[in-house]
Amino acid sequence: MSASSSKERIMREEDFIVSKTDVKGRISYANEIFIEFSEFKENELIGKPHNIIRHPDMPRSVFRFMWQTLQKGEEFSGYVKNLSKHGNFYWVFANVTPSYGPGNQLLGYFSVRRKPSRDAVTLYEKIYREMVEEENKHSSANKAMDASLAILNDYVEQSGLTYNELVIANEM
Ligand SMILES: Cc1cc2nc3c(=O)[nH]c(=O)nc-3n(C[C@H](O)[C@H](O)[C@H](O)COP(=O)(O)O)c2cc1C
Repeated sequence: MSASSSKERIMREEDFIVSKTDVKGRISYANEIFIEFSEFKENELIGKPHNIIRHPDMPRSVFRFMWQTLQKGEEFSGYVKNLSKHGNFYWVFANVTPSYGPGNQLLGYFSVRRKPSRDAVTLYEKIYREMVEEENKHSSANKAMDASLAILNDYVEQSGLTYNELVIANEM
């Protein structure tokens, strides 16, 4: 899909984009709004890895940070630019949590996304662009991730807030 045909789709105030995955991040459930924005059919999503809607403008380190947070049993909140089947894109403010069954057994993960503020989209577009540029400078994946996350951490430190406080602050 060429970049010129790529259009931004904006979430409505009342929209919630919901998905569930198994422990490996394969989609086990997607709600109607997910299907609408992703432009995939339900049967094209179920069983597929969640990176089916990964946008190349997203820094790899953001997902690494997300998975590390989830693997600690904590919830992750953050801004994500997603890619639709037909090459369109949509920004979300995502909250991702691990789901546990009886005996604290990990069942999978759950994500609810709502419309992000425009100020947040403008800010994270800039931060993520810097992070992707940094990642592209390194041949070692680990160095790329560390240098990229250092950029995000600088923004967090400048704000005087924690990462979680900062992402929520952008929505108030
Ligand atoms: C519940 C859940 C929801 C996710 N939602 C998204 C999403 O909306 N967009 C996305 O690009 N990745 C999402 N991911 C992360 C993907 O699993 C994957 O790590 C990411 O797309 C990076 O893919 P890559 O490692 O192949 O580059 C989600 C993961 C989980 C567990």
